[in-house]
Amino acid sequence: MTHGRVFRTGIRHRRPASPTDKIAIIVIIFARLFSVPSRIRGAARANTDPPSPRSAALRRWSRGWDEMMAVYQPNRTAGVQAVLDTVDACLDHRHPKVLDLGGGTGSVGHEVLGRWPDASYSLLDLDPVLTSIAREHLPPHTDLIHADLHDPGWSQHLPHHRYDTVLAVMTVHYLPPERLTQLYAEIRDVLRPGGLLIVLDHMPEPGLATVNARMRHRAGDPPRPSMSWREWWDGVAADPFLGPIVAERAEIMRGQTSAEWNPPAHWHVDTLRASSYGEAGVAWRHGADAAVVAATPNA
Ligand SMILES: C[S@@+](CC[C@H](N)C(=O)[O-])C[C@H]1O[C@@H](n2cnc3c(N)ncnc32)[C@H](O)[C@@H]1O
Repeated sequence: MTHGRVFRTGIRHRRPASPTDKIAIIVIIFARLFSVPSRIRGAARANTDPPSPRSAALRRWSRGWDEMMAVYQPNRTAGVQAVLDTVDACLDHRHPKVLDLGGGTGSVGHEVLGRWPDASYSLLDLDPVLTSIAREHLPPHTDLIHADLHDPGWSQHLPHHRYDTVLAVMTVHYLPPERLTQLYAEIRDVLRPGGLLIVLDHMPEPGLATVNARMRHRAGDPPRPSMSWREWWDGVAADPFLGPIVAERAEIMRGQTSAEWNPPAHWHVDTLRASSYGEAGVAWRHGADAAVVAATPNA
């Protein structure tokens, strides 16, 4: 497995540079300084275009969502980066196939594509309001899949059948234990041999209640979001672009409840090991948040 690129250096004996060589070197340095890779040029051009009212509104809701998530998940940035570092260390190519379960507004997808611009990224979620926001700030080639993880047939909707990695960030606590146990087995079947499942969620350790409370106290109050959860949803319902989708969402969400089930990390690890993943363990933790990683056996 490759963990990085090896740069080889060598010593060569050179003749002294001629005036022509010197001019050529200066021209090359200036050309490098002022040339911008086409991907960045494209991004810079896109940024100078004034966003359409629709685009500006959806981006505002996306920022509001991230602010709320930062309250629910105080170590979110560090946790998501730890997830991506784990993928980086274990995958040996630069365009991984990534499936993001309960990807919501594409907040994690944005980070994935920031790290691997050529990744094949699929976001699965059942909430059409959140995926409409995701569509706005993810590149057009990303796949958005509407499916319900309660349904054992969810994987039939996927555009690929052998993902390098499956991520679930703050998603699995929506599911009750029996369904999550089944889901872990189903995820194994959409991973390639040697693929990774990474689950980042609240996984409080009952034996560390005092330590966790002290860590929370030390971290201080979470940043105040510009709007509460209620205000965010009320604002989205009143939005001219998202309002109509909120009605559609109400239909889809009828009967859906979150299990709000947050077992300790060892429950996830034991369940994954019992589900024939090759390796499973805690890759990152901070306070009550943890990332559990499981790898499918190599073929
Ligand atoms: C707390 S949000 C996290 C969103 C995203 N992963 C993030 O970190 O920003 C949980 C997500 O899981 C999705 N979700 C919950 N239950 C689901 C289900 N049964 N099927 C598919 N998605 C579900 C929700 O719609 C929501 O987008």
